[in-house]
Amino acid sequence: MRKLLSIFMICLLSVTVSACSQANESDEGNINPADEIVEPEITEPEENIEASNESHILIAYFTYGENAGLSNDAEVSSSASIQNWNGEVTGNAGILAHMIADVIEADLFSIRTVDLYPSTYDETVDQGRSENDAGARPVLSTHIENLDQYDTIFVGFPNWWYDLPMAMYTFFEEYDFSGKTIIVFSTSGGSGFSSTLQTIAELEPNATILEGLTVNSSQINEAQNDVHEWLVSLGYEA
Ligand SMILES: Cc1cc2nc3c(=O)[nH]c(=O)nc-3n(C[C@H](O)[C@H](O)[C@H](O)COP(=O)(O)O)c2cc1C
Repeated sequence: MRKLLSIFMICLLSVTVSACSQANESDEGNINPADEIVEPEITEPEENIEASNESHILIAYFTYGENAGLSNDAEVSSSASIQNWNGEVTGNAGILAHMIADVIEADLFSIRTVDLYPSTYDETVDQGRSENDAGARPVLSTHIENLDQYDTIFVGFPNWWYDLPMAMYTFFEEYDFSGKTIIVFSTSGGSGFSSTLQTIAELEPNATILEGLTVNSSQINEAQNDVHEWLVSLGYEA
């Protein structure tokens, strides 16, 4: 009986080996040379890392100090609107922009005009009035190249004659923020937002506009706590 069982096992083994070898042969026979050169799709790890590091938040701001034709340090210290952030000349809206960027992961974008504003603040106040009266659209020298990357755009500016600086009209007319969230911050000598929030809603009708923050120019350098609390109220972890 044991002998019979052994013979049966040997037969079974040889049938299995022969079936396997036939399967291998037939697989080899079916190899299509064209299949061999089809490269598998490889996602470069570096690309993944880059993509995950891309910020989805942009902080775009216009500020006098970065658009003024300042010729020397005396001018810098003579105007209340000229500020310094880590050795870089900026203005009040620029300070707010940097304070926001200190709290949240975001890219900064300075809105700049081709023609610089006068070096004295008083002349700038007059020019701002003339531009507003004329409905001017100052030409911009900086442009957002990768708007698709951002779903939220913080937009900051000073109140100029109870309105947006006219360069901000050029800015909003250049971009379509449909489907994106706009969060406004501004600075003024006391007028607050005036009608700027409604104006932005008209210029970007398909964007969602969230609760903004406006800071008096005299309070700018102490605004860090207000900025912090405001960002927390918007749901940002700080
Ligand atoms: C052209 C011009 C117009 C201004 N108009 C107003 C105004 O209507 N109401 C107000 O409160 N402040 C007004 N200001 C003051 C600025 O809003 C304020 O100084 C602001 O903090 C400047 O910000 P910046 O340094 O980012 O440019 C005006 C300033 C300029 C230059």
